[in-house]
Amino acid sequence: MPASRETIASAFNQRAGTYDGDDWHVRYAERLVELAAPTDGMRILDAATGTGFAAIAAARAAGPAGHVLGVDISDGMLTRARQSITSLGIATIDLIEADATALPDLADGAFDLILCSAGLLYLPVQTALREWRRLLKPGGLVGFSTMREGFPTAARLFREQAGRHGPTLDDPAGPLGTPSRCRRELHDAGLVPADIVTETIRFSRGDLAHAWQAHTQGAHHDALAALTPEQTETFRAEYTGTLADLLDSDEDGVLDAQVIYAFGRRPSHSEDPFRRI
Ligand SMILES: C[S@@+](CC[C@H](N)C(=O)[O-])C[C@H]1O[C@@H](n2cnc3c(N)ncnc32)[C@H](O)[C@@H]1O
Repeated sequence: MPASRETIASAFNQRAGTYDGDDWHVRYAERLVELAAPTDGMRILDAATGTGFAAIAAARAAGPAGHVLGVDISDGMLTRARQSITSLGIATIDLIEADATALPDLADGAFDLILCSAGLLYLPVQTALREWRRLLKPGGLVGFSTMREGFPTAARLFREQAGRHGPTLDDPAGPLGTPSRCRRELHDAGLVPADIVTETIRFSRGDLAHAWQAHTQGAHHDALAALTPEQTETFRAEYTGTLADLLDSDEDGVLDAQVIYAFGRRPSHSEDPFRRI
């Protein structure tokens, strides 16, 4: 069963204090913005903005005439975003606490670009993409990032070991985890698939130091609540031990994750199959 919005918001409220300590998050978000290549004066929506990494990079690219709206359901993450934006003195970002898949107060065609970095795995994909299609100008671009199915390796290992202790955990990257699935989802939402870029992102060793905490507090892993304290402790010792061994050798490339950056465009009026006549 997918996690509820309340569960997701509460998981990210708990993680908000340490989220920015994982250095791959910022690199992952900034790469999405780099590939989207916002230009001066653009109006940009950063859906599931979290602590604002993509919003900040996009605001810098769009310059003083541009504007970024960051939307998230976690007030803890938004508080961190607000602190960063204030300390950087950026005046062109607004933040709202809202569900990024339903923004009825925003007008059709309000944005040139909509970004969602590392967020779609928490959202109903078609509901989100269709809402963002509505919010894009004809010809506007949506770009999102996702892990390839089975990545990151440390998360796959966590699920495999959890399975031996009881709960079966699905791969949250599964639904969007290949370029063809990304293309299909964009197409089904009435968007024209554009670039789909696959790359490898390298975690630092420090990123994986939080792996147990990130996975056990993760919004996708509430099935772990069924484990007894003894089972949890056995699992924790096994997982952190295996991960430390893999990190020592790095022979399975545990630090490398394959990621996808997918882009689609809202069709122009004349080519729009969803257009009401
Ligand atoms: C992994 S974080 C990514 C944050 C940021 N985009 C980044 O790249 O670092 C996922 C974010 O999605 C947010 N989120 C999950 N469901 C959401 C929803 N329905 N509407 C808005 N934000 C949501 C969470 O609160 C969390 O901040």
